[in-house]
Amino acid sequence: MATGRIVILISGRGTNMERLIQACQAGEIPAQVVRVISDNPEARGLQRAQAYGVPTVVVPARAFPDRAAFEAALLEAVREAAPDLICLAGFMRILSPRFVQAYRYRIMNIHPALLPSFPGLHAQRQALEYGVKVSGCTVHFVDEGVDTGPIIVQKAVPVLEDDTEETLAARILQKEHEAYPEAVRLFFEGRLRVEGRRVRILDRPE
Ligand code: GAR
Repeated sequence: MATGRIVILISGRGTNMERLIQACQAGEIPAQVVRVISDNPEARGLQRAQAYGVPTVVVPARAFPDRAAFEAALLEAVREAAPDLICLAGFMRILSPRFVQAYRYRIMNIHPALLPSFPGLHAQRQALEYGVKVSGCTVHFVDEGVDTGPIIVQKAVPVLEDDTEETLAARILQKEHEAYPEAVRLFFEGRLRVEGRRVRILDRPE
């Protein structure tokens, strides 16, 4: 019986969100996605979530006078759903230290590069412009920095001679769709132990 509760934050397309919902509904992750929250009313992921019967909430950033007011509303929308884990899935805003501290090691993010290389926006473009031969994706716990938290899962892909930002992004996205469910499953199996910067993956729960 899936008892774990996941809240997913999105801003756009929502394919990583969809993979997490599918993995939960298929019983691959012992948890359920109880709410999807978007800061963007136009996010395509909202309809995707609804198609799986997952309730959605919009906290439209533009409707608030400042970042603090937006975040207070976001935090409230998260709290109402009583999550064990919050998954950022293409959520394009930075959470304040207050938010992060309220859910220490209970917020994950997926980033389309092998961190600590290429944090921030346009990670795939940064990788191409730098000229790396290998890139990939990273699932990490969120800390107070931007894409700096302890790393849980990484998957690599080659950068090919004729890659564009789009073709590289598509190759990385395939790996994202494997990496995120894997990291979330390990979390709900009780197999992640954070030791400083390192996240140890245990053979069995402690
Ligand atoms: C994904 O590639 C994700 O790694 C990236 O946005 C995309 C969202 O796609 N996130 C970031 O760049 C965060 N800095 P999706 O909405 O289809 O999951």
